[in-house]
Amino acid sequence: MTITRVSATDLFKQVLDPANRSNPYRIYEQMLTTPVAQLDSLHYIVTTYDEIAAILHDPCASKDERKSKVRGTVRDVPHPSLLFLDAPEHNRLRKLVMQQFTPECISRMHDRVRSLVTEMLDTLRGQTRFDFVEQFAYPLPVTVICELMGVPREDEQRFHAWADTLAHSLDPVVNHNPGMEADTQHASQELRTYMSELVKEKRAHPQDDLVSGLAVGNDPAGRMDDVDLLNTLVLLLIAGHETTVNLLSNSMLTLLRYPFEWRKLRKQPERVAQIVEEVLRYEPPVQFMQRYALADITLQGVTIPQGASILLLFAAGNRDPRRFAQPNDFNPDRPDNQHFGFGGGDHFCVGAPLARIEVHTALNELARRLINPRLLADPPPYRPNAVLRGPQHLQLAFDHIAD
Ligand code: HEM
Repeated sequence: MTITRVSATDLFKQVLDPANRSNPYRIYEQMLTTPVAQLDSLHYIVTTYDEIAAILHDPCASKDERKSKVRGTVRDVPHPSLLFLDAPEHNRLRKLVMQQFTPECISRMHDRVRSLVTEMLDTLRGQTRFDFVEQFAYPLPVTVICELMGVPREDEQRFHAWADTLAHSLDPVVNHNPGMEADTQHASQELRTYMSELVKEKRAHPQDDLVSGLAVGNDPAGRMDDVDLLNTLVLLLIAGHETTVNLLSNSMLTLLRYPFEWRKLRKQPERVAQIVEEVLRYEPPVQFMQRYALADITLQGVTIPQGASILLLFAAGNRDPRRFAQPNDFNPDRPDNQHFGFGGGDHFCVGAPLARIEVHTALNELARRLINPRLLADPPPYRPNAVLRGPQHLQLAFDHIAD
């Protein structure tokens, strides 16, 4: 019998195919047999845990597309946000953002998230089914980020639309669909105009919120200029919205596929942290990200040439059997769960503490109050985005909402 080896390029095409969105993991499993592969003359892909970690910590692996030979995506802008910058500029901006995510601010959000979740669950009283994505996971993070930023509540609806349209601008494999690019440009322009007005308002009347903090900050490292400030505010919305929606939805989906874990969570709310870390490994909301080689980089005998793009397949590395025992099992008790759910190295997610507190609080309240939830469709329909992967809808039935 002849065994045909499918090339990495063909396997990656299958990853991008929306038909495989509900389960890309069997394709990743095949890709893990080739830790570093060439997709075409300028694109390489890295799938295994140690090799992804090596690139994340390699100073020759850049985030700045302007230093690469790959051009022409929606991010090809003169002033990228900190997500797409290298040191020293990246460090300066990142430090200013980190100063806003203080422990006090995060714990304040904990109380706010709990009351938002209470309100949302109260509206489900008298019902026995709902769409978890539409009615819960989608609205919660946008409300949280708007409150954190100090966006007036009446303007929040506009943020839902902007966040939705702009989500795919984080996608390294950009769909060059002219209609979509026009929508992105339009949404980005509207959001920037709104944000500049908000910044003016906060400078005139500073409050205890993130926009005021960044707009009037007096750190010795310097204040952000207006371009960096707007880039950062837009980034925080885009980077923090759909990712958190997907972590909430992926958590709920996984817990309902493992009802034993759901029941355990009800009895032991303190298990929530390890459950969420395991979802970040097992069903990560960000499946892959990109770097660019500033010099030739040799890994596992493959030389990635200077200027090439390097896709880091976090979701495959998270299931690398050389790093994680029984990687395809969902096991919140797994020791040493150092996943790539929030990336790694210099660009490790700034919003991780906020995302964690949000999802922990939401899951604990759901486990306590949502009685006997069941999935009505499995697998659920997925959004087309291959990078920010998560269900489009998650229809659930339940018995009732407890007090
Ligand atoms: C579950 C939710 C989230 C997930 C799974 C997630 C995931 C990630 C990942 C994987 C990266 C690294 C990207 C790379 O290496 O190229 C990242 C970076 C980032 N995230 Fe998150 N994120 C989440 C929530 C948030 C939230 C709530 C915020 C802000 C409010 C946020 C803000 C950022 C920013 C600003 C960066 C760029 C950091 C840098 O370049 O230094 N994220 N995130």
